[in-house]
Amino acid sequence: MHRIKLKINGKGFEHEVDSRLLLIHYLREKARLTGTHVGCDTGNCGACTIIFNGKAVKSCMILAVQANGAELTTIEGIAQNGFHPIQESFMDKFAVQCGYCTPGMIMSAHALLLENPDPNETEIREAIEGNLCMCTGYQQIVEAISHAAKKIGRSEKK
Ligand code: FES
Ligand code: FES
Repeated sequence: MHRIKLKINGKGFEHEVDSRLLLIHYLREKARLTGTHVGCDTGNCGACTIIFNGKAVKSCMILAVQANGAELTTIEGIAQNGFHPIQESFMDKFAVQCGYCTPGMIMSAHALLLENPDPNETEIREAIEGNLCMCTGYQQIVEAISHAAKKIGRSEKK
């Protein structure tokens, strides 16, 4: 067992964890943050995407012990005073169907927009290439991310 200390969504967490525990399972089972979904557990679907020290990562590909000292953001951490503009845009553009991929998609989109506030369609598609969606055909998701970028840009100019 190892003691880890980390920050998730700005809040401190400290737990004893097994050296083999994956970060996704730490988040859901120990930190009780179940907004991050588990799909494949093998790095293929992107449902478990979170932001780890500023970068989008698949949390099933990282051990909980590797997050010692890290700063993480999960889907629970992006909404402040209501939905985040990316979440609103996913609803406005009908980019959610079953919702399984949605938290991971939104976190990949969030990481993209932090780095590149005005991405073109190719850049959006590249940012979500590790996130699989079985329902939407991706077009609405791409439109939602583009719409969110404009929405965030407009609110920053106010
Ligand atoms: S659950 Fe992590 S990539 Fe599928
Ligand atoms: S909305 Fe169902 S997998 Fe994307």
